Amino acid sequence: MEDQTSTQMIMNQRKGRRLVLFPLPLQGHINPMLQLANILHSHGFSITIIHTNFNSPNPSNHPHFTFHFISENLSETELRTSSDNLLALVALLNTRCVEAFHDCLDKLMNHQEEQPVACLISDAILPFTQAVADKLKLPRIVLRTGGASSFVVFAAFPLLRERGYLPIQDSKLEEPVVELPPLKVKDLPVIDNCDPQTLDQVVDGMVNGAKVSSGLIWNTFEGLEQSSLDTLGQKISIPIFPIGPFHKIFSTSSSSSSSLLKQDQSCISWLDKQAPKSVIYVSFGSIAAINENHFLEIAFGLANSNQPFLWVVRPGLTVGSDWLELLPSGFIQKLSGRGHIVKWVPQQEVLAHSSVGAFWTHNGWNSTLESICEGVPMICMPCFTDQRVNARYVSDVWRVGLQLENGNLERGEIEKLIRRLMVEKEGEEIRERILCLKEKASLCLKEGGSSYESINSLVSHILSLDS
Ligand code: UDX
Repeated sequence: MEDQTSTQMIMNQRKGRRLVLFPLPLQGHINPMLQLANILHSHGFSITIIHTNFNSPNPSNHPHFTFHFISENLSETELRTSSDNLLALVALLNTRCVEAFHDCLDKLMNHQEEQPVACLISDAILPFTQAVADKLKLPRIVLRTGGASSFVVFAAFPLLRERGYLPIQDSKLEEPVVELPPLKVKDLPVIDNCDPQTLDQVVDGMVNGAKVSSGLIWNTFEGLEQSSLDTLGQKISIPIFPIGPFHKIFSTSSSSSSSLLKQDQSCISWLDKQAPKSVIYVSFGSIAAINENHFLEIAFGLANSNQPFLWVVRPGLTVGSDWLELLPSGFIQKLSGRGHIVKWVPQQEVLAHSSVGAFWTHNGWNSTLESICEGVPMICMPCFTDQRVNARYVSDVWRVGLQLENGNLERGEIEKLIRRLMVEKEGEEIRERILCLKEKASLCLKEGGSSYESINSLVSHILSLDS
């Protein structure tokens, strides 16, 4: 009884507190930010989301949050060209949003009828928000949507530059990064052909902004990234809160409501007709693009593998093509129903389906975590930035997937890799290991588990900031 009364008192105390959250407006960042918003809302906080007009999620899917939209101040042309150049987009958002964000936050803080704002929680990759929060004397907590292991590498950029690993030289791709085992030079989290200065600016801004914030939230869990979290704990003096996997704290329906693209439900009835653990699910997330040749090698590798497959071909996935025009005529008919290609799926539902036996992924952090949480072994094909580090951890540290190493994107190699994962003993061992990680992911969220406890610490920390 006493316990119930004190829990009620704590909830009432939080009920008077509002949190303002500001995501980077890209799918892989919006999803975890809105999941975090749900977690904190369930702990009694009121939630206000500031969002750019660009890529805004549908507020009616989140009736328990208040939304405020600001202009990102980018022209149509800037938005179009920067969608091919992620770093340029991030750099632009960090300069063009300053005024609108400041004015919006200032108004929210001075709104007499609303509850007081306890703190700002913004994406690590939007460090300009630190200066705005400082100016308004509001504490800022950072959400890093990627993993802790890749952040360790980002934090080591000054050292990697000093030791000559960065900028990457093509002749050294296969060499080990001795300071960061088991990474090789080709695993360093850069974007090919990007301007090194913009990359340094974005990475240093993210790391330095996080270091001076009032706390750092991770969508990860100790059982997965303990040693990287320990490394960060030694290097960063602010409190850190590994409270993931976020999406497992909430049901699939609440997390899929932040999808920017319409999810094709036909894939679920198609999956219902397949044999258990037989399907290869293929998706490269919301940003990665491939060339025509790779598109065709993937298509024929899948077709020749003789396994059923569900392939997400997002419009824009293949440079220079709208959707499936590059496939030879009759390609799909010849598969006689063994392959199903759609534009976007409810991914968490797909990965949780009993027919799915492997996930061929680009290893965006959300996809990697979602696969681990469902115990689905991975085929790793990282494209850029943190995906490369994630993929190396999947294949060489956690050993829950196989990596298509650079240059191996050829139909024969694809077929061999699928066979290793789906048919051979090696694949069975990988499946056993990922099932152990799945179990750890589930345990950490239970009472007494590391993420469960960390959420409680985060809530206390937020309340302490504002007292
Ligand atoms: C980006 C970066 O590319 C990635 O490296 C970084 O870690 C996060 O931001 P993205 O490439 O979109 O993200 O990949 P990912 O992190 O995997 O996020 C994609 C999200 O879209 C996942 O939550 C996934 O469930 C969802 N998704 C994907 C769908 O809902 N449907 C799909 O068909 C495909």
